[in-house]
Amino acid sequence: MNATHHALNDEGDASHAYRLLYNLVYCSRVAAGVDDAAVARIIESARRNNPEQGITGLLVFGSGIFFQWLEGPRDNVTQLMALIAADPRHGNVVTISASEELRERLFPDWDMELVDSADIRAVLLDAKQNASETRHRLALEQLLQELDAGQLSDLGTA
Ligand SMILES: Cc1cc2nc3c(=O)[nH]c(=O)nc-3n(C[C@H](O)[C@H](O)[C@H](O)COP(=O)(O)O)c2cc1C
Repeated sequence: MNATHHALNDEGDASHAYRLLYNLVYCSRVAAGVDDAAVARIIESARRNNPEQGITGLLVFGSGIFFQWLEGPRDNVTQLMALIAADPRHGNVVTISASEELRERLFPDWDMELVDSADIRAVLLDAKQNASETRHRLALEQLLQELDAGQLSDLGTA
């Protein structure tokens, strides 16, 4: 059993997949000197802290850009985002979307998954194909469209 499953069980029965979920997506500019080792330490923090907050998501790192998807209870995500926004390892934090909905998690098994920017399209497509809920699929489809339209263009280029 991994830590994510603890988090889900703490919130209630994981089979009750529809719950009020706050979803925050942002992009930021990686600070100078932040390398793979620094990003590994960020992921370590996330895996240590996110499960007890019921937070899941993914972090994309590449082309000097961070892109993070956070989902969980609103207060917990908001508190974490305040910490993250003040982190000197990045700057120019721009919120792409923030919403609260009654729905399933898009990334229920990921405390915080590190995704290479070259793989982001495949990750989103895979999540969309596995989504059991229409709104789920639509949210991912929109993100894919933004990616393809170049709105997230920095993410896909080397
Ligand atoms: C791009 C980025 C993403 C981050 N994502 C998370 C996260 O998902 N969870 C987390 O606990 N900390 C995250 N952090 C780190 C926090 O800003 C903060 O350093 C950390 O939560 C402190 O906790 P610690 O003392 O346990 O390491 C992130 C930092 C950056 C720069």
